Amino acid sequence: MIEFQQVHKSFRVGGREVAALQPLDLQIVEGEVFGIIGHSGAGKSTLIRLINGLERPSGGRVLVDGEDPGTLDAAGLRALRRRIGMIFQHFNLLSSRTVAANVAFPLELAGTPQAEIASRVAELLARVGLNEHANKYPAQLSGGQKQRVGIARALACRPRILLCDEATSALDPQTTASVLALLAQINRELGLTVVLITHEMEVIRRVCDRVAVLDAGHLVESGQVADVFLHPRHATTRRFVSEAEHVNEGALHSDFAAVSGRLLRLTFLGQHTYEPLLGRIARETGVDYNILAGRIDRIKDLPYGQLTIALVGGDSDAAIAALGAAGVHVEEIAR
Ligand SMILES: Nc1ncnc2c1ncn2[C@@H]1O[C@H](COP(=O)(O)OP(=O)(O)OP(=O)(O)O)[C@@H](O)[C@H]1O
Ligand SMILES: [Mg+2]
Repeated sequence: MIEFQQVHKSFRVGGREVAALQPLDLQIVEGEVFGIIGHSGAGKSTLIRLINGLERPSGGRVLVDGEDPGTLDAAGLRALRRRIGMIFQHFNLLSSRTVAANVAFPLELAGTPQAEIASRVAELLARVGLNEHANKYPAQLSGGQKQRVGIARALACRPRILLCDEATSALDPQTTASVLALLAQINRELGLTVVLITHEMEVIRRVCDRVAVLDAGHLVESGQVADVFLHPRHATTRRFVSEAEHVNEGALHSDFAAVSGRLLRLTFLGQHTYEPLLGRIARETGVDYNILAGRIDRIKDLPYGQLTIALVGGDSDAAIAALGAAGVHVEEIAR
C-alpha cells in the first residue's frame, strides 16, 4: 500500500543542509496497522508528510497506492489525499463549527450533496460514539471526545489509509486506551491501512501489527511487534521497551548481582502463557526457582508472559532444555 524506496529527506536551514531522514526502505502492507516509533526529532512527522505529499523526498521514491505523490499535479494530489485520512496530536478541529459541522467539512469540500452529508455525518458520529454530542462545540468536549471527532472527520471521505501523528500523546492513559481500541476496531471493520506515529512503545504494543524504529533519521529496527517488543536488538528499541515495562534495567541488574543461581529470562507466547509449565519442569528436574520480575500481558491480541527467574540446584541444563522443548524462549542473562 505504501512503499519507500531509498527515500531520504534534507531541509535547508540557514544555507545548510540538515538531514531529517537517511535513505530508508519501508513497505506498509494493505490492511495492517504499522507503527513508527522514535524520539522527538527522529523524523517521524517528516516520514508521514512524505506519504501525503506535504513534503517531497530529496532522493528516492515514495509510492502510495501505486502513485508517487512527488510527481502528481495539484488535482492528482487532491485526489490522492482524499484517499488518505489524517488525525493529529492537537486534534486540529474548527472551533467555530459544531461537532457535526466539523465532520461535514471534508464532505462539503468534496462537493457531496447536502442530503447525503447529513446521513453520512450521523453514521460517522455513531461509529465513534458521539451521537449525543453532534451539536456541541469543540470547547465543550474532553480531549478523548475531540480526538473521536478528528477520527470521524478523517473517515468522512472513505479513505483507504489513515495516518495518525501522535494521536494519543495529549490524552491520559485510560482515554488513550479507548481511542486506540477505536482505531483497532476501524482497522478491523473497514480494512483501512493505519500508519501510527508515536514515542510510546505502549501504543505500539496495543494496536500495531508491525513496527519500525527511527533514531535520528535512521531506520534502526523493524519487524513484527511481538519480535521487536520481546527481543529488541537496537539500544534505542531496548530503551523504549524498558520505558513501556517501567523496568529500570540498571537497577534490576545490580539487584541480580546478589542473587545466586542461573539467571534466565523466559518468554511465553500464546497458549503457553497460561500453562503451569514452570512448576512441572521444576518437579521433574529437581531445580528450585526464584521469580525476580515478571509480566503477563497482550501484544495486540497475542497473550505473552515474560519472567526473569533464578534457577537454583537440581539439573538446570535439563530444566532449560525442557522449557525450550515446551516452546518457551529462554535467554540466559547470567550464570
Ligand atoms: N520544514 C523544516 N525545515 C527545517 N527542518 C525541519 C523541517 N521539518 C523538520 N525539520 C527537522 O527534521 C528533523 C525531524 O523532524 P520531524 O518533525 O520529522 O521529527 P519528529 O520525529 O516528528 O519529532 P517530534 O516527536 O518532536 O514531533 C528535526 O531535526 C527537525 O528540526
Ligand atoms: Mg512530529
